[in-house]
Amino acid sequence: MGRMGTRVSDRIAAIAPSATLAVDAKAKALKAAGEPVIGFGAGEPDFPTPDHIVEAAVAACKDPKNHRYTPAGGLPELKEAVAAKTARDSGYDIDAGQVLITNGGKHAVANAVATLIDPGDEVLLPAPYWTTYPEPIRRAGGTVVEIATDEGSGFQVTVDQLEKARTPKTKALVFVSPSNPTGAVYPRAQIEAIGRWAVEHGIWVITDEIYEHLVYGANEHHSMPVLVPELADRCIVLNGVAKTYAMTGWRVGWMIGPTDIVKAATNLQSHETSNVANVSQRAALAAVSGGLDDVARFRENFDRRRIAMYESLNAIPGVTVLEPEGAFYAFPSFKAVLQRPVLGRQVSTTLELADLILEEAKVAIVPGEAFSAPGYARLSFALGDDDLREGVARIADLLAK
Ligand SMILES: Cc1ncc(COP(=O)(O)O)c(C=O)c1O
Repeated sequence: MGRMGTRVSDRIAAIAPSATLAVDAKAKALKAAGEPVIGFGAGEPDFPTPDHIVEAAVAACKDPKNHRYTPAGGLPELKEAVAAKTARDSGYDIDAGQVLITNGGKHAVANAVATLIDPGDEVLLPAPYWTTYPEPIRRAGGTVVEIATDEGSGFQVTVDQLEKARTPKTKALVFVSPSNPTGAVYPRAQIEAIGRWAVEHGIWVITDEIYEHLVYGANEHHSMPVLVPELADRCIVLNGVAKTYAMTGWRVGWMIGPTDIVKAATNLQSHETSNVANVSQRAALAAVSGGLDDVARFRENFDRRRIAMYESLNAIPGVTVLEPEGAFYAFPSFKAVLQRPVLGRQVSTTLELADLILEEAKVAIVPGEAFSAPGYARLSFALGDDDLREGVARIADLLAK
């Protein structure tokens, strides 16, 4: 038995279930039972994967060379295409030897952290943060050092805050822009300042660029190692096809880093999972070497839904939300709602409120507790316009009762 008294090992027993997947599972179960549930929980585009990508996968299925093991770190042609795409999209010049193809962006997070973090290392994590970041850090024996941000700074961490949190044990910073869960997009000058601070203190940056193409209005995506080239030797870029090409189910992501780190991470992957399914890699190859027309179409739809969600949430008494700048999430505050009864009940946390909204209004939202931000909730706007309108209206009706 582990020290925690379970049959499960201490390390694994200490892992919290993914709160976002839990909400989604509960909502899907209610839906399967015939309830008219509207889900704002899942972080995935509602569009099907574009045809030319699916067709490349169908062809790949029929080619026996894809029925075999291939190099653990990814198909050489996909690594080349990722290098070319990275230069095209963010201006970061890398070679294929700096790329490891992983089972989705989530696996890239796990590999990057496992390769970098030793027991006792401190990792700076601006909050609210995506639920998946802290777990692999703790599993590696690292210490998560949370840095709280709020609406006042647009949910963006400052160099002052980072500097206050820095100790001799600080090994790395996890950075994400556009952000899940807040929808924040850091301006160029701030990304540059954070990169310079990291270089000055020899701190690694793991920068997650999975939402790079989903920025709205005047917001722009900038890649930290492009703005601060001296950072490249201590920088890992995470990315994948899930959000850009509506390919969440295909499970292809990648990490880009210095060659020694990528070689070590590839070694790890060779024992853990071997190569990502070749059919999926061939689909990803078609995606990244194709154009950006499909994502432009997705972005246009998300942008319209973003405005609809922003306006309709802000119109609910007690709810306030910043205009999402990127990704496909709104992150409203429900703090004022928690001060008064709903349906005659005093609801004191967003965890309880999310449960009540799911039970009574049949609408799934992810409580801020999942992102270390109680008082808030995350609503994805990657769903159809009618569902979006109806879902927010149901929340508004419930909160008026
Ligand atoms: C910030 C961020 N990074 C990475 C991922 C990983 O996506 P996937 O594992 O589906 O490629 C997600 C998915 O929700 C995300 O929100």
